[in-house]
Amino acid sequence: MLGTSPQGDRAKLPMQGIPQPTREEVMKLPRVHISTHPVMAHKMTLLRNKNTPTPQFYQLVQEIGALLAYEATASLTLEKCSIETPLQPMAGYSLAGGIGVTPILRAGLGLAEGFRQVIPDVQVWHLGLRRDEETLKALEYYNRLPHHVDLQVVYAVDPMLATGGSAIDAINILKRRGIPRLSYLGIIAAPYGLMRLSQAHPDINIYVAALDEALNDNGYIIPGLGDAGDRQFGTF
Ligand code: PRP
Ligand code: URA
Repeated sequence: MLGTSPQGDRAKLPMQGIPQPTREEVMKLPRVHISTHPVMAHKMTLLRNKNTPTPQFYQLVQEIGALLAYEATASLTLEKCSIETPLQPMAGYSLAGGIGVTPILRAGLGLAEGFRQVIPDVQVWHLGLRRDEETLKALEYYNRLPHHVDLQVVYAVDPMLATGGSAIDAINILKRRGIPRLSYLGIIAAPYGLMRLSQAHPDINIYVAALDEALNDNGYIIPGLGDAGDRQFGTF
């Protein structure tokens, strides 16, 4: 059991005694974008509520994923193209190059679905990382990244940025595939994870819906929303 050694003594909890930065210290990090939109604040309140049932929780994760995708894709490159309206020819735009989204399994699946509602024409590269709840280290168990990469940008999506271990590893894996431009999209970040991700990968943009207070001794975000995977898939 977490926190108990085989001899039955109380063992140290994984985040116990580890200093954490404050919200104020991480809010001004470069390339960090924290949503201030009132619609997001409304949906986040519904999402955090422990009485929100699984189907509504999953629906909200998708809706928040769509809002985050809209914010995070504001600087995508466009190409000019020509079309004809029913009345006359005109110049228009299409998104240049390919766009990829990498859901970090399993909790990233709902966010990726929301992202696809904004940009249906994305490649989805699944990456399975599971956090060991005793050590809080991420373990890779599934990887369907293609060998051939010709994308403009890839967005790694995962609702919870807690210690940052899963996000840092995911970006390392994507960088090894030679992706030219990477961003991270998440729902809730803890200051500790945000600081670590930003320091490990200062070249990526990070978009989150909310920045919470801290991690508790077990590495859970507080106030948070609990376990994002369990709440999406009903595995309590
Ligand atoms: C959760 C979450 C992140 C990770 C965050 O996933 O979705 O991937 O923990 O923690 P970290 O920042 O400390 O690495 P979990 O490992 O519980 O797997 P799941 O998606 O299958 O529920
Ligand atoms: N993973 C979650 O799902 N929730 C947390 O608070 C931390 C990690």
